[in-house]
Amino acid sequence: MDHSAAGGALMALLETRGLVKRFNGLTATDDVDIAIEEGERVSVIGPNGAGKTTLINLITRMLEPTEGDIVFQGESITDRAPYEVVQQGISKSFQTASIFPELTVEENAEIAALGAEHGSFRLNFFRHRNRYPEVDDATRRTLEAVNLWDQREVPAADLPYGDKRRLEIGIALASEPDLLLMDEPTAGMSPEETNATVSLIENVKEELGLTLVLIEHDMEIVFEVSDRIIVLNRGRVIAEGTPEEIQGDPDVQEAYLGGVEL
Ligand SMILES: Nc1ncnc2c1ncn2[C@@H]1O[C@H](COP(=O)(O)OP(=O)(O)O)[C@@H](O)[C@H]1O
Ligand SMILES: [Mg+2]
Repeated sequence: MDHSAAGGALMALLETRGLVKRFNGLTATDDVDIAIEEGERVSVIGPNGAGKTTLINLITRMLEPTEGDIVFQGESITDRAPYEVVQQGISKSFQTASIFPELTVEENAEIAALGAEHGSFRLNFFRHRNRYPEVDDATRRTLEAVNLWDQREVPAADLPYGDKRRLEIGIALASEPDLLLMDEPTAGMSPEETNATVSLIENVKEELGLTLVLIEHDMEIVFEVSDRIIVLNRGRVIAEGTPEEIQGDPDVQEAYLGGVEL
C-alpha cells in the first residue's frame, strides 16, 4: 500500500474528520479530528465517560457516526462494514468475549488469522485446513509474539486470567493488522500481569511493525509506552502532545487529573 499522498506529503495512517456521535441527547464524540501517523504509539486518555470507547467503536465501525468521516490509508472507511475494516488492516483487542473458551489457544489464533481473509478462503480452510501455510505462519508468529506458543494446545478456558488477556491481544494481532486498537488492556490484571502486558505492548510494535492506539487509565503505563497522548473530555479533544507536554498541561491537570501530582 502506498502511504504517500498525491502531493508527496506524508499522510496519516488514520484520520478522523469532524467525527460526531450522539446518543439521543448526549454527544459522546464531539467534532473529533485526530491523525495517527504510521508506527506511532498513541494513548487516548480522559475521565470516565469522556468518549474514549465510543471513539474506538466508531473507528472499528461497530458504531455508526452521526457526522464526520474516518479515513484509513487515504480512503474513507465510514461506509464500510466491521469485517471489511478488519480485512483492510484495523484490529481491536476485544474483551474476553472474543475468545472461544472450548477451543485451544492455537485454534483461537487460527480463527482470528482467518478473519483477515476472504469468505471463500474461510470456507475452504475448514474443508482443507492443512493447505494454508500462510494461516499457520500468522498463527505461530502471533502466539510467539504474545508468549503463548508453548501453551498452544491448552484450551483457552484453562488459561490464567493474564494469559487470557494476552490471548485476546494475540487474537487481535493474528489478522496481522497495520493498526491495533486496545481498550484498557490491563484492566483487572494483577501488577505482575500488568507488567507482562506492558512489555508485550512495547514489544509488539517493534516485532510486528504496528501502529498502536491505546486507551489506558493507568498513567504510569501511558507515560511509559506513548509517543503521543490525546486527551478527551466530554467527547472533545482538549489536549494533544508528548508525555512531557501532557504532564505539564494545565487544562489536562484541571479537567482530568484534578491536580493530582504526576
Ligand atoms: N450505546 C450507548 N448508548 C447511550 N449512551 C452511550 C452509549 N455508549 C456510550 N454512551 C455514553 O457516551 C459517553 C461516552 O462513553 P464512553 O465512550 O464509554 O466513555 P469512556 O470510554 O471514555 O469511559 C458516556 O456518557 C456514556 O454513558
Ligand atoms: Mg471506555
